This record gives sequence, structure tokens and C-alpha cells, in this order.
Amino acid sequence: MLSVALPKGRLGEQVYEMFASAGFPCPSIMEKGRKLIFENEEAGVRYFWVKPSDVAIYVERGAADIGVAGKDILVEYAPDVYELLDLGIGKCRMAVAAPRGFRDDKKRTLVVATKFSRAAREFYASTGRDIDIIHLNGSIEIAPILGLSDVIVDIVETGTTLKENNLEVIESIFPISARLIANKSAFKFNTEQIEKLVSSLKEMI
Ligand code: PRP
Repeated sequence: MLSVALPKGRLGEQVYEMFASAGFPCPSIMEKGRKLIFENEEAGVRYFWVKPSDVAIYVERGAADIGVAGKDILVEYAPDVYELLDLGIGKCRMAVAAPRGFRDDKKRTLVVATKFSRAAREFYASTGRDIDIIHLNGSIEIAPILGLSDVIVDIVETGTTLKENNLEVIESIFPISARLIANKSAFKFNTEQIEKLVSSLKEMI
């Protein structure tokens, strides 16, 4: 039985459709309700819905054999897992954004608000800029508007959130998309089954 951690939400539903077409269907997963675990013994698969940012933890610890996580989460938490495939969906980017007209005063430490502290720290280390990080858990866009930070490092998909809050991208950091990841020992014991899934998924991408 292959255990699969799926990110709860629209992206996860899209991923499930891909897995179902690849030979791992489990129709009960689409039933409305609050249930989180679904099994199809015949197809040899068990799915569970988890918070997108928790998928990597389930897979790293072996509670799930495989899962799908955004590249943002993989960069931020650097879990000890195999990254097997870029699924080419859930595309967006990690970027620095600031209020329109912002000019960086290099003599001052730059204050950066973000949910992605490691990504922000690594990016500014690579540019040699001194920063202070303010770690927030959501609604990051508000921080520079209220003077809590100079800039933000956050995910930009359509750009609507930035636009509606009078912010703009000043630098792109890295592109993001959904990745298939596997627990290292689960991969060793189920190589054939997982490789088969990977090649079916590849044909769909
Ligand atoms: C994400 C991200 C941005 C928004 C970007 O927020 O943190 O706020 O989506 O999307 P857009 O470019 O299409 O507007 P999320 O919905 O995850 O909420 P939160 O970070 O505020 O919790």
C-alpha cells in the first residue's frame, strides 16, 4: 500500500487527478465531507490531505511514502527527501516586493518581513546585503504599508495581492512549482512502483 500525502486544496485535487490517471484511483476522495484519509485497497493506495506546508514533514518522517510539495516549502525546510519530479503545476515565484517607488538605502540595514526566512536570508547573503528578518505567518503584504518592514519576500502568483496593496516586485528570487517527493527508505523498498508512477506522470506533463 503506497501512502500519499496530498496538499489540501485546489492544487491537491489537480494532483489527485494526475495520480488517478497514472493508475492510483481512489474515487471516495472526491466525496464532500471532513474525512482526511482515503484508501483504495485494490489500487494499493492510501491518500491523506494535509496542510501544504506539512507535506514534506510527513514524507521526511516516513508517515507518507510520497507526497507533493511546492518548491518554496522544499527550499524553506530543506527536508531530507528525494525530489523526483517537477509536476509543472502550481506555478508561481518567490520575490522581493516593496511599496511603489521604494529606493534601497544601502547604508541602513534592510528590514524584511516574510514567511520564508531561510529563502530570504539565503537570497540576501548571496547579494551581500545586511538585513533584519521579521518572521510573519500570513498577510505579509501589510508589513511595509504599516512601516513594520521595508520590503517583503513572498510568493507571487497573479500579482493581484501586490497590486491591490500598492506594492510591486523589485526582484524575482526563484520560480516555484509542485514537486513529487519521496521518503528515502520508502523509495528503496517501493522503487518499481514509484518509478512506474513517475513515468506515467511524466507522460502527462
Ligand atoms: C499567497 C502569498 C500572497 C498571495 C499571492 O498568500 O503569500 O499573499 O498568495 O498570490 P497572487 O499573486 O495571485 O495575489 P496566501 O493565499 O497563501 O495567504 P497568506 O500568505 O496571506 O496566508
